[in-house]
Amino acid sequence: MNVLGIETSCDETAVAVVRDGHNVTASLVSSQVAKHADYGGVIPELAAREHLKALRPILQQTLHQAELALDDIDAVTVTSSPGLLPALLVGLSFAKGLAAATAKPLVGINHFLAHVFGAFLETPDRLQLPEAYPLLTLVVSGGHTALLLTAADGSCKLLGQTLDDAAGEAFDKAAKILQLPYPGGPVIDKLGKVGNPAACDFPRGLCGGGGQALKPKNRLNFSFSGVKTALLYQVKGVENAGNLDQPLDLADDAVADIAASYQEAIVDALVKKTLWALADTGARTVALSGGVACNSRLRQKMADAVKVPLFIAPPKYCTDNAAMVAGLGYYYVRAGRADDFSIDAAPRLGDVSMVPFALGA
Ligand code: KG4
Ligand code: ZN
Repeated sequence: MNVLGIETSCDETAVAVVRDGHNVTASLVSSQVAKHADYGGVIPELAAREHLKALRPILQQTLHQAELALDDIDAVTVTSSPGLLPALLVGLSFAKGLAAATAKPLVGINHFLAHVFGAFLETPDRLQLPEAYPLLTLVVSGGHTALLLTAADGSCKLLGQTLDDAAGEAFDKAAKILQLPYPGGPVIDKLGKVGNPAACDFPRGLCGGGGQALKPKNRLNFSFSGVKTALLYQVKGVENAGNLDQPLDLADDAVADIAASYQEAIVDALVKKTLWALADTGARTVALSGGVACNSRLRQKMADAVKVPLFIAPPKYCTDNAAMVAGLGYYYVRAGRADDFSIDAAPRLGDVSMVPFALGA
């Protein structure tokens, strides 16, 4: 079954064709990063306009690369939530048009669950093993930081999530403070390789320590606003913290040390909470996905710490892409789901209580 995937939830316009859930025939991503760089973050209206321009040519290129015609597509799947509302609406409207024109089923996809699936796009066998469950996934992206536990029957439990910034957002905001280019994650990752991760003692949010007891309800939640403020004070001083436009008076190696220490604080919190969740639940597989899963320090520290099989998607399927959308979509279509044309876009996380790709789902 050839499933078309469309992804426009943020600043990447992506289209893919995936055969039978895991065989990626073509996956194209057009990034708008350069358009948003001047603002140090994604502007929703601008993102929507760029999706509008990019979708049709990218669809044509994807079909060309897949050596398929629109008629060869068996279903149209599209990210309908969560994300930036104007951006989602463009992709969803485009998908509705395609589904109507081809008389093929339309399925709206949850972007968060698509990231969860992304870790298994290239390893379908793992999903078929009873001993793989329960499966613990850490989704870390520009919009999410959450731990999801999936049972063999496909039922899911959100164990914890960020109470403020997502990990990717924390990287991007830090880069802005350090006057580094957008998006900040890849730049800080690079600096982290040359800087000293022990140079600054940044707080590990909601991990306890520092004389502060951790409330049980926050055991598996995350918080990155404290470390971001600590970075701001470190760089600008408390009195000057509001003056973000002033040039930074820091040598390159000092910036690298600060970036490495900041990355270390975020990575430590992510790894620690994943280990706690593993211990609490007895999960037998760990998956790591979302754009921040590209981070080399996180990949390394997670691989060193996790003693059950660990699945991390290749970077191209960690950052936003449509292959993860089409792959997840295949399982819904196979189960007979088709959304009607009144399906709406929604910015919030929505229902993540079930996935269709688990062994007994
Ligand atoms: O999954 P994604 O492409 O989009 C969302 O769904 O948000 O994630 C984008 C985020 C950005 O915040 C970006 O800075 C971060 O992923 N990111 C990284 C790295 N590559 C991308 N963060 C840390 N290290 C990286 N190497
Ligand atoms: Zn994403």
